[in-house]
Amino acid sequence: MKKFTLALAIFLSSFFFSLGLSAAAGAPCGNYLSSDGSTKGECEEAYINPKDKASLQRGAQIYMNYCLGCHSLKYARYKRVSEDLEIPLDMFQANLIFGDQKMGDLIQIGMDSKEAKQWFGNTPPDLTLEAGLRGADWIYTYLTSFYIDDSRPLGVNNKVYENVGMPHVLIDMQGIQRSVCKQIPLIASNGGLKQDPLSGELLTGEKCGFLEVDNNSGELNPEEFAQAMLDLTNFLAYMTDPMKVERESIGTYTLLYLFVFTMLSYLLYREFKKDLH
Ligand code: HEC
Repeated sequence: MKKFTLALAIFLSSFFFSLGLSAAAGAPCGNYLSSDGSTKGECEEAYINPKDKASLQRGAQIYMNYCLGCHSLKYARYKRVSEDLEIPLDMFQANLIFGDQKMGDLIQIGMDSKEAKQWFGNTPPDLTLEAGLRGADWIYTYLTSFYIDDSRPLGVNNKVYENVGMPHVLIDMQGIQRSVCKQIPLIASNGGLKQDPLSGELLTGEKCGFLEVDNNSGELNPEEFAQAMLDLTNFLAYMTDPMKVERESIGTYTLLYLFVFTMLSYLLYREFKKDLH
């Protein structure tokens, strides 16, 4: 009994310790301010679905057109992507492969990493495993958080990745996004909204750092842009874990098999037990 209590104590303390660790990881999304201003540094949740082939196809299209110039996917091959995403080979070859690359090639780029470091201050990293490193929420929030900042060499900055070296390559699609200040309701010490004690009117204060896109400055409206970035994030998440859907379905079958096997073993056990009496 003592041993059991000890084991339980160790288990519980390591569980709470790991919870504490993940909470202590702090603000993963830098200076990103949620749209209501209530949280800073928390990433937006990216609701992506690895089974949504249409979304993955749209994501691949954006990637090949806007990102592959700088970021390779050097642990993946074109052919595998075209098969997994169910894009017919000839269509893939005609629209998504540039230069003299072949279907069987790894998805590499021609940019010289030393030169890239000179141009951008940092080498654009390979993104095959990016979703495993940063998580989908981080990537999605990062892609939607570029804003105009004239003090930076490229004229843009990013809320998630302060002073980033990457240009805002999707500015035509998104439009001109700025970091703005807004009047928002003040929060009282009891957690409610602060009111003027005499008139009962809500008190507001200025808070800065909200992201706002200039009206009609981009090819897509904000909802369409958010969807496009979800598709792109979905594609990068697929890149990191191309087996995810298959793995999960194998898991279901395995559990089902184990369940049936347990039932059969139990019946066998009952048969054996009969002979003992
Ligand atoms: C003109 C070159 C260029 C293009 C095009 C480009 N990037 Fe980048 N990207 C960079 C550079 C340079 C960095 C490194 C920035 C730094 O570390 O300061 C970077 C960094 C990133 C990071 C963060 C990597 C990390 O974890 O540190 C992500 C994610 C990313 N890019 C995604 C994309 C996506 C998605 C696209 C296509 C929409 C794209 N990039 C297009 C140059 C580019």
